[in-house]
Amino acid sequence: MSRKLHLAVAVYGVGGPGQHGLWKDPRVPKDASVDINYYIKTAQVAEQALFDALFIVDSQFINASYPSHYLNRLEPLTLLSAVATHTTHIGLVGTASSTYNSPFNLARRFASLDHISGGRAGWNVVTSFDTGTSKNYGLDEHLDYATRYGRAMEAVQVIRGLWDSYEDDAFVADVERNIFLDPARLHALNHVGEHFKVAGPLNIARSRQGQPVIFQAGVSEDGRNLAAHVAEGIYAPGGTLTEAQEYYHDIKRRAVALGRDPGHVVIFTGASPVVGGTDEEAAQLSHDSYEADNEFDRKLGFLGRAFGAYDFSQHDLDAPFPDVAHLAEKGGRTRGLELVRRAREEGLTLRQVVETVTEYHPSPFTGAPDTVAGAIADWFGAEAADGLNLRFRTIEDLERFAGDVVPLLQKRGIFRTAYEGDTLRANLGLPFPVNRYALERQAAERERAQASA
Ligand SMILES: Cc1cc2nc3c(=O)[nH]c(=O)nc-3n(C[C@H](O)[C@H](O)[C@H](O)COP(=O)(O)O)c2cc1C
Repeated sequence: MSRKLHLAVAVYGVGGPGQHGLWKDPRVPKDASVDINYYIKTAQVAEQALFDALFIVDSQFINASYPSHYLNRLEPLTLLSAVATHTTHIGLVGTASSTYNSPFNLARRFASLDHISGGRAGWNVVTSFDTGTSKNYGLDEHLDYATRYGRAMEAVQVIRGLWDSYEDDAFVADVERNIFLDPARLHALNHVGEHFKVAGPLNIARSRQGQPVIFQAGVSEDGRNLAAHVAEGIYAPGGTLTEAQEYYHDIKRRAVALGRDPGHVVIFTGASPVVGGTDEEAAQLSHDSYEADNEFDRKLGFLGRAFGAYDFSQHDLDAPFPDVAHLAEKGGRTRGLELVRRAREEGLTLRQVVETVTEYHPSPFTGAPDTVAGAIADWFGAEAADGLNLRFRTIEDLERFAGDVVPLLQKRGIFRTAYEGDTLRANLGLPFPVNRYALERQAAERERAQASA
């Protein structure tokens, strides 16, 4: 079977990271991030264009300097449940932290979304970037990387175990024989591990796709290791074509080394296309957006996020970049330490760091529709991505991409012309996870049959 491109759309309402001026755009309702109709409309446009998934990122700590969308937004599973009832095919991927949730609760909520949506749920497993989240959950300190990712790995194992509590034929519902449930098809997990102790069973059956799809986002060594072990989809950060290829091959190599089929780890690279009538018009649109977001104070405020929401405004902008490496150890270590290294090596002041990390780099997917479709085909062909997680500034921009670029991707034969199925798994080309207890029983039955033959 030939490889097919996948597309997701990530919603950032009034403006996610870096989109400091977006809330002022007259096309964006000032309450977009808490207006369920905004998400429903986005999902419907994306579904019309045959996108694989609507992707909802999340966080649970803010201060006033955070991106506009983060300041006032809906909880992912609540919003996706509402979107589910207004869509039929598009996958619904919600971000939830394995650091600040109990596995039983997560298993139950995602299984519920999977039922409500008819088998379209996905869980984006994150370990929480913001160190301040700990204080919202009764902990003085954010857990360190090893503990957070250890918990993430074990949480996924526990949750998958809980999702298998009922075999698919457990509910007999036979009125004549007065049997609602076959108790032999109900299983307690009785998990005791390093981080969790969970008895089970979970009080909800499997959905049409068996289990929700596991996504992952996080690029450290621990993050890549988690992805290779458990992720079926990945939200990858992007960057240059070469960086994306390096990441892509590293993840696929790790998955293969663990005996997994690399085709069953679908890598969605983050991308922000800018489509214009001509290449020149798109270049101008891209530059205009950069200028709309180019507010020094907000850029300075956002720089603090990787360092535990550190307030850099207390420092002299023209003095050498302050020594804050230790503040990134637990939160945004990958990005934070890279930034500190660069500041040291290049001898940058605080002002220069802000300007360097936010300097103008147009998206590689900027241009007339044919240029954008060509660039996407190139990235896909060069194995820099299996799919793209697209970020648009407005619903109108998504509509333009859907109307002008998607047909060109279809013409090139890399994007579907109809949904393959009506579950997220079916559309991502992922296998149906057979219930573990049913598998055990089948294996035992085979052994018995062989022994008696
Ligand atoms: C592309 C991408 C998207 C992410 N999205 C989220 C998110 O929505 N919420 C969150 O708490 N963390 C998010 N993370 C952060 C990771 O879950 C992780 O906690 C953090 O990046 C630190 O881990 P890392 O160094 O492995 O990337 C994201 C990371 C990446 C690379």
